[in-house]
Amino acid sequence: MTKPYVGILLDGINYGGIKNQKLTYEQLSLYEEAAKHYGLIPCYFRLKDISEDCDYVHAYVMETGGKYEKRTLPVPTVIHNRALHFTQTAEEKIHLLNDKGISIFNNWNRFGKLKIHQILQVNEDIQPHLPETVRASEVNLHMMLKKYKDLIIKPNNNSLGSGVIKLAKVDVENWEMFFYKKQENTLHKEVFTTKDFPVILKRKINSKINLIQERIPLATYKGSPFDLRVSVQKNEKDKWQVTGIVGKVAQLGGHVTNVAKGGTCKTLEELVNELSLDYKTVYKNIEFFSEKVASNLAAKLPKLADLGLDIGMTNEGFPMFIEANCRDLRITFKNAGMNDVWKSTYFTPIGYAKYLYEHEIKEYD
Ligand SMILES: Nc1ncnc2c1ncn2[C@@H]1O[C@H](COP(=O)(O)OP(=O)(O)OP(=O)(O)O)[C@@H](O)[C@H]1O
Ligand SMILES: [Mg+2]
Repeated sequence: MTKPYVGILLDGINYGGIKNQKLTYEQLSLYEEAAKHYGLIPCYFRLKDISEDCDYVHAYVMETGGKYEKRTLPVPTVIHNRALHFTQTAEEKIHLLNDKGISIFNNWNRFGKLKIHQILQVNEDIQPHLPETVRASEVNLHMMLKKYKDLIIKPNNNSLGSGVIKLAKVDVENWEMFFYKKQENTLHKEVFTTKDFPVILKRKINSKINLIQERIPLATYKGSPFDLRVSVQKNEKDKWQVTGIVGKVAQLGGHVTNVAKGGTCKTLEELVNELSLDYKTVYKNIEFFSEKVASNLAAKLPKLADLGLDIGMTNEGFPMFIEANCRDLRITFKNAGMNDVWKSTYFTPIGYAKYLYEHEIKEYD
């Protein structure tokens, strides 16, 4: 029996890294190791490398000697999507692949935060873990300023922490606005009253791409708020599992934990020790909650199999949902020195690919 190929669908930047032998976020050696473990051969390509009829693909495959060479292959029957696609043409091609019986998991990786929120809100168990979220508008801002003392305004789509504004109440009339300037990691502050919003704030709330959200009172580490990146993935048994949990601590004075905005990665154990909470209990709670979030999302978003959740936690260890990334870069685990977990984030989806070959693809023998 020849080993079947498993397709790894990449975006242009990560694909370009293979040809130029440049390091990117995608650790190809880990796909190779994982595929070997599960008896598969990985091949790497972009959507545009697949022929129009979706029968063939020009893909990179590792040759004996360790060099990547391009080969023309029949499109693999199982594909792990690691790319963010933006166009309707891309969406149509993914549909065509599905129609042809190709099992492409995490087939669509981009969903607005509001859509994700609305899916989760239906579940009564999850509701208490969701900060109130509304679309940005002047009316909604006035409503949220009346209701809460702390707010976050952020884009509905990926921002890597850019454009996330914090509003904090000072007294009956005054509020403080904290924001990062574009391309900068330095924090700026402006005081305002609810009768006269600053220009930046007006611009933010008049743009429908933004959301206004109740700010979760995040637990702190050495005075800085932190949240967690939780990798939740389908495994070789077709079950959702938490592959790892890692902490992201905001820079001092900051309100976003993204590494792109000066955040640092720490193990959960290190963070929990400072709070005098029991590590195992916290881990179990976050794990239970994250698996529930994943299975609820998957019920509405078929083909979902690999998620990087941002989960906030209060000082008491209560989990709060921040956002779901469907293309987790997995790098947070490496940054925190959690190499075994980082490796597992690559192994688990390949194990799921093996499951799909064995249970959903008839030709496999
Ligand atoms: N409601 C909230 N309460 C407290 N902190 C928040 C809240 N929303 C966002 N944050 C902080 O801001 C950070 C960035 O927000 P979020 O994760 O929602 O978007 P993003 O990371 O910019 O988007 P993406 O990961 O898709 O690029 C979070 O990791 C968290 O530290
Ligand atoms: Mg995030």
